Formats: sequence, structure tokens, C-alpha cells
Amino acid sequence: MQLDQIDHVAIAVHDLDAAIEYYQQAFGSEVAHREIVERDGVEEALISVGESYIQLTTGTRPDSPISIFLDRNGEGIHHIGYRVKNCAEAIKAVVAAGSKAIDEVPRPGSRGTTVAFIHPKGALGTLIELVEDPSE
Ligand code: CO
Repeated sequence: MQLDQIDHVAIAVHDLDAAIEYYQQAFGSEVAHREIVERDGVEEALISVGESYIQLTTGTRPDSPISIFLDRNGEGIHHIGYRVKNCAEAIKAVVAAGSKAIDEVPRPGSRGTTVAFIHPKGALGTLIELVEDPSE
């Protein structure tokens, strides 16, 4: 297993349109992709940074993990997504090496990806997402 690159850094925001406008104003960035992921209760906008993305993300309902994070912590970095070739193999390898999986079995992410999250406890306090992008 190998971490191929940073797929995205996710930033939790209260107001997605305002966050997009900030990136437009400050950096001249445009949105590469925007999507509501209903099952996770999130809406996200991807801003390209080279081959990677900044993922601006907000909750669509009060019980969504992003809404809960925002209530507790306010806006800020939520997780880091690392690109891997095979998400199922990668999460198995990470668990075998002693980390705690949130998703033992990979699940669908946004933009057609397959993802699995690793628990921040035992991962330097960082929520990590393994991302397999079939278009890569
Ligand atoms: Co993510």
C-alpha cells in the first residue's frame, strides 16, 4: 500500500457559498465540482490546487458529522484525504498495522470515488480518509 498523493484537504464551513466566494476573492479560484452527498448529510465544493483539492464542506442537516463538528469546533480543517490505488486493500493494511477504521469496508464517496475513514484516535489526532478515484 502506498499513499499516492493528497487527494483533498477538507475544511468545514458554516456557509458554503460564502466560503467559495472567499476562495474566489482571495485566490481567484473556481469551483471544479460541487455535490450534495445526501447519505452523509453534507454539501461540498472542490477547489483545484494542482492535482489535489481543497474540499469546502458544510452540513445539510443538524445531525450530520460536519454540523456536529462545526457546533463543537467552529470552522476549520476537518480531515485529510490520501489517494490510494485500492481502498479495500489499503484500509485492511492500515488496520493490520494497528489503526482503527471507521469504515472497515469502503463505501461510496463523492464524485464517484470509493472511500474509507481512519479514526483520529491512534492517527495523531487527524481524521484520515483513503480515497480511490476510478478515473485516475
Ligand atoms: Co473527504
